Amino acid sequence: MDNGTTLTRFILEQERQHPEATGEFTALINDIGIAAKLVAREVSKAGLVDILGLTGRKNVHGEHVQKLDEFANEVFIKSLEYTGHLAAIASEEMEDFCPVPEFFPRGKYILLMDPLDGSSNIDVNISIGTIFCIFKRRSEGNVASLGDFLQPGSAIVCAGYVIYGSSTMLVYSTGHGVHGFTLDPSIGEFLLSHESIRMPERGKIYSINEGNYTIWEDWTKEYIDDIKMKKEKSLRYVGTLVADIHRTLLKGGIFLYPGDKKNPSGKLRLLYECFPMAYLIEQAGGYAYDGQQRILDKTPVELHERSPLIIGSKQDVEEVLKFIKGGN
Ligand code: AHG
Ligand code: MN
Ligand code: MN
Repeated sequence: MDNGTTLTRFILEQERQHPEATGEFTALINDIGIAAKLVAREVSKAGLVDILGLTGRKNVHGEHVQKLDEFANEVFIKSLEYTGHLAAIASEEMEDFCPVPEFFPRGKYILLMDPLDGSSNIDVNISIGTIFCIFKRRSEGNVASLGDFLQPGSAIVCAGYVIYGSSTMLVYSTGHGVHGFTLDPSIGEFLLSHESIRMPERGKIYSINEGNYTIWEDWTKEYIDDIKMKKEKSLRYVGTLVADIHRTLLKGGIFLYPGDKKNPSGKLRLLYECFPMAYLIEQAGGYAYDGQQRILDKTPVELHERSPLIIGSKQDVEEVLKFIKGGN
């Protein structure tokens, strides 16, 4: 009988294979897994308990804060700040980063997260998620500084997401491939279900919010019109980045949230959404660009910076870049 490989066992064994590893990620990823289970439990009760709907407040991006946004933010902070591995946490839901309180030991890592991705899908029972990435702290002294968060994508040491879907999955990478774990609710453990995910070089799905067509740049219209003319791809768009990227990771294809005439930097957040997803997709053999440069080559200048995102199978992204350069 195969008892299944638990998340804890997998991380431990991975760390043994990489002598440079300190073992700190074992605890950190484990605690991310626990926070994910707490959020998954609430999500599964949505509709039965009073967890749906708005809090009545707006966040730093001017967006309405849902009760689950706030709950997930709280759960992830409380589950991770005490561990001794983190120095500070930044979240899409908080204006400023938050140093680990003084009564806990402060560690050498920095966590960035989108605690609840896909807020507009919460009330309608469509998959939502959590996204995170981790940097090593650069500053000295007792308290982390803003510069610790404004590191280039190439400095990421770990990234991942949790998808609260028909099953709950945790997908992560520490630079040695991308691995997926599915929560077995009967034992409350994440079990290895997708080891060393590699994405197809080209896919049959394109994913973009076509409602923005009239404000798109010309290249975006030309690329999407060309896809429709060729009739080689189907459209899938969930509107939860985690779900759209999860599908892209497993099936290949292309996801775009480009800059447009109204919002030249698009909508997605560089640090909480684009960086982690670019890291995972590249680890699985795909590409991620902002149209001008590789996402992981970017260095943010502010915490809540936005960036266009063109991400997916290698050949599909290369094709988009031809349209951007006008040489298609
Ligand atoms: P969040 O719920 O964390 O604010 O993120 C929403 C994001 C992302 O999940 C998704 O890809 C995108 O918004 C969808 O935007 P549109 O509704 O403009 O298509
Ligand atoms: Mn999001
Ligand atoms: Mn969010």
